[in-house]
Amino acid sequence: MAGQIPTQFIDELLARVDIVDVIDARVPLKKAGKNLHACCPFHNEKTPSFTVSPDKQFYHCFGCGAHGTAIGFLMEYDQLSFPEAIQDLADMVGMTVPTTQQVNLTPAKQNLYDLMDKVGRYYVHQLHNHPQRQPFLDYLKQRGLSAKTIETFGLGMAPEGWDNVLKTFGNNPQLTKQLLDGGLLIKNDKGRTYDRFRNRVMFPIRDRRGRVIGFGGRVMDDSTPKYLNSPETPIFHKGTELYGLYQARKANRRLERILIVEGYMDVIALAEHGVTNAVATLGTSTTADHLRLLLRAAPEVVFCFDGDQAGRDAAWRAAENALPMLGGNQQLKFMFLPDGEDPDSLVRGQGPEAFNRRVQLAQNYSDFFFETLSGRVDINSMDGRARLVEMTKPYLKHVPAGVYRDMLEQRLAELSKTNLATLNRHLEKPAQPARKPVKKPTMATMTPIRMAITILLQYPILAREIEDIAVIRQSQQPGVNILADLVETLHQHPHLTTAALLERWRDKENGAHLQKLALQPLSLSADALKHELTGIISRLSREAKEQRLEYLDSKPLSELTDAEKAEYRSLRG
Ligand code: UTP
Ligand code: MN
Repeated sequence: MAGQIPTQFIDELLARVDIVDVIDARVPLKKAGKNLHACCPFHNEKTPSFTVSPDKQFYHCFGCGAHGTAIGFLMEYDQLSFPEAIQDLADMVGMTVPTTQQVNLTPAKQNLYDLMDKVGRYYVHQLHNHPQRQPFLDYLKQRGLSAKTIETFGLGMAPEGWDNVLKTFGNNPQLTKQLLDGGLLIKNDKGRTYDRFRNRVMFPIRDRRGRVIGFGGRVMDDSTPKYLNSPETPIFHKGTELYGLYQARKANRRLERILIVEGYMDVIALAEHGVTNAVATLGTSTTADHLRLLLRAAPEVVFCFDGDQAGRDAAWRAAENALPMLGGNQQLKFMFLPDGEDPDSLVRGQGPEAFNRRVQLAQNYSDFFFETLSGRVDINSMDGRARLVEMTKPYLKHVPAGVYRDMLEQRLAELSKTNLATLNRHLEKPAQPARKPVKKPTMATMTPIRMAITILLQYPILAREIEDIAVIRQSQQPGVNILADLVETLHQHPHLTTAALLERWRDKENGAHLQKLALQPLSLSADALKHELTGIISRLSREAKEQRLEYLDSKPLSELTDAEKAEYRSLRG
């Protein structure tokens, strides 16, 4: 996989990208000496042990052992595949990934992306050219949308008729099959195939990278269903996609807050009024995957629900799903709208300022959590308060151990008018997340070769202190070849950082091993390390030479080839 993206490109990319920017945009970093640090996004902690080294272009958490390059960070944090992470970084610095289109995508999936894109553009074209476009344009206008917003969201129209898309894009059985796979056609019991979307305003659904992966289509009158959506397809999964996330990220260099609303039109109407940070789930409730995605996209996530019972129920489901994700640096909040209103009607009726004021007043997670649970009991009676404790217990169990959980427990103690000690006797302590103890091998226990590799990985610049390396390959000691490879790579590419080196070994047998060595604490000064490194290399070459001489000596002169004779002379000399 990695092989399909040229190594040189990855080097260049890592030279242009700064891991500090990549991480800081997601996990705000603080300066700490020559490194930067933060509370680790991969486990719960109160004091920062997540460290980013600008020199090495590498991050490392001393608490949980997580570590990697900018590429690795995006793969972990944004849940991207290797090629996707490369693509995101390249987008950041304006580089074009060679061969990226095909990388890691099965041809079938790639065809689907291409097809969805074409069909999306077809719907847009119809909206501006179809003879019967006027009612569609009128509808969008009546909903308050400007030409700019229509373009930003790529809105289009599916004309009346059973086979517009079928005829335009399905000229042969293979293409028809693709249309079916993409959910654009429906096949009925009698085997007849026809367009899924007919006479509807079309909303393309894009993934985070902007690729069209599905559609929603709305009728313009009161007929049902009001919205028709693409079914699940190989490239469209409702539970992991959020409508409008692509546009929100594009409109905001850095998202400080994300609003999560219920409908397509809410996202679009808010954007029309300058509120460009809203996303919507696609007619499903908010899943844990959505939440993970959202909490990574912005430090604050505000759920925006209807004020009615259905809205409150949906909010509670979201709150339940969020329990295992609480306690990080991110904030979750809830806002409820007045009866009969949705964000679309509110922002149109009262304007963006009034809407934003409501957002400011959104309820904290803990307030909503305890308000909901207390609402189910009579908090004024002792029995009710006891019930509250019983009811809350199973929820708290899912909250990761940490300050936030402690505070929720504190709050429960206050609400139930008991004290923490009593409460603690009854609360089950969740198992601490199994954390692999980070072994701290010392410099003293390392073999010289490991030591040399470690120094080079952490101070690639020192490779220029080494001259001839080829001879050490003759040595029988484990690891010499890796060491020689490293030195040779650095001789050819003297500017590689630790991160770039590690990326070159990502898919190789020793990649994981090298990552560990890159983390090894080296408690010597740079000067001392240089000395150590050159010392090791010269000892190795001396030993290798001696071994070689011994071998050549052991052979009768008559059996030596000319090359071996020359080698013998040079080793002696
Ligand atoms: P709403 O009915 O609240 O949508 O449904 P809305 O955006 O306010 O619709 P407008 O303002 O009347 O145009 C919320 C979401 O639920 C899904 C859609 O994703 C919609 O945006 N939905 C709703 C469907 O999938 N099908 C439907 O028939 C209705
Ligand atoms: Mn609406």
